[in-house]
Amino acid sequence: MSENVRLRPEIAALTAYSQGRSPSADGFKLSSNENPYPALPGVLEAAAARVEINRYPDGAAVALRTELADRYGVEFGEVIVGAGSSSLLQQLFLAAAAPGDEIVYAWRSFEAYPSFVTITGATSVRVPLTDTLEHDLDALAAAVTERTRVVVVCSPNNPTGPAVPGTAFESFMAAVPSDVLVVLDEAYREFVTDPGAVDGQDYLGRYPNLVITRTFSKAYGLAGLRVGYAIGPERLLAAARATAIPFAVTELGFAAALASLERQDALDERVAEIVARRDRLRGALIEQGWNVPSAQGNFVWLPTGEHTTAATDAFFDADIAVRPFVDDGIRISIGEEESIERILAVTSALRR
Ligand SMILES: Cc1ncc(COP(=O)(O)O)c(C=O)c1O
Repeated sequence: MSENVRLRPEIAALTAYSQGRSPSADGFKLSSNENPYPALPGVLEAAAARVEINRYPDGAAVALRTELADRYGVEFGEVIVGAGSSSLLQQLFLAAAAPGDEIVYAWRSFEAYPSFVTITGATSVRVPLTDTLEHDLDALAAAVTERTRVVVVCSPNNPTGPAVPGTAFESFMAAVPSDVLVVLDEAYREFVTDPGAVDGQDYLGRYPNLVITRTFSKAYGLAGLRVGYAIGPERLLAAARATAIPFAVTELGFAAALASLERQDALDERVAEIVARRDRLRGALIEQGWNVPSAQGNFVWLPTGEHTTAATDAFFDADIAVRPFVDDGIRISIGEEESIERILAVTSALRR
């Protein structure tokens, strides 16, 4: 009887991540903020040509870390890679927080934060977003106590869309004690067009307690290969590395990430298309009367409130899978061009 086996109750109570319903082959999967395009041209071929899958991957990720360090103008030890930035967020939390400690983050934000905190044994402290569904950085800083070990800032915020202003971020960093780790989660940074938005790259080397995380899953279209990276002070990253599952990033992942970095022009072109589509969709939704917050990632937020479940069903009836947050709203990822008209038909009917 497995009921007799003693588990950590808080872990047994966690529900494993659910990917939700899938649309048909002709439908649109706009529920996971994925890139609708395949990997950049030539990336898979280049990666496959370099890989020996009978060997373990390079546990130190030397080639990719060297390339990223070069790109960001930091030392090799100031970059680590992981199996998606999810893995790195979890590693950073594990490195800094334990039972009795607190991890502070805005809410609503990335769904994985609460479970990553629970896994460490620490306690989540959630700070509500503002009325415009942005981070309240003053309130986040004010929520820091003696027990706080980590504060997470998600910019652009998943699932609501706004990015944190750079000036507000600087005041926030000045207010947070330097012995508290700040993680700036920039999974969607490549899609940001607001010139006033924070760019973690501007702050590298400036704060002893700041780590930024980024990913190849979104703009680069490599979600299925699981590669993310973190940049920050070497001592903090070494501790995060110590919590990693050995060899979690595959050699194919390294090779595809490296090949993607060599294709900056193709990346820029794709990102520009997704951004233009995002802005067009948001504009059309606003014209229909929806109060859509600033959208700086590859998704838009539809405030459906108590009608969220019915609205999700309406999308599903149109063969579109979206991400519902019950009694709150729906996140729609920017996908194929042809999806836009179909989304707008659903949202128009929902207004009536
Ligand atoms: C805000 C945010 N951070 C991190 C991630 C993790 O992405 P990955 O583990 O694929 O790098 C996601 C994925 O949806 C996200 O939305």
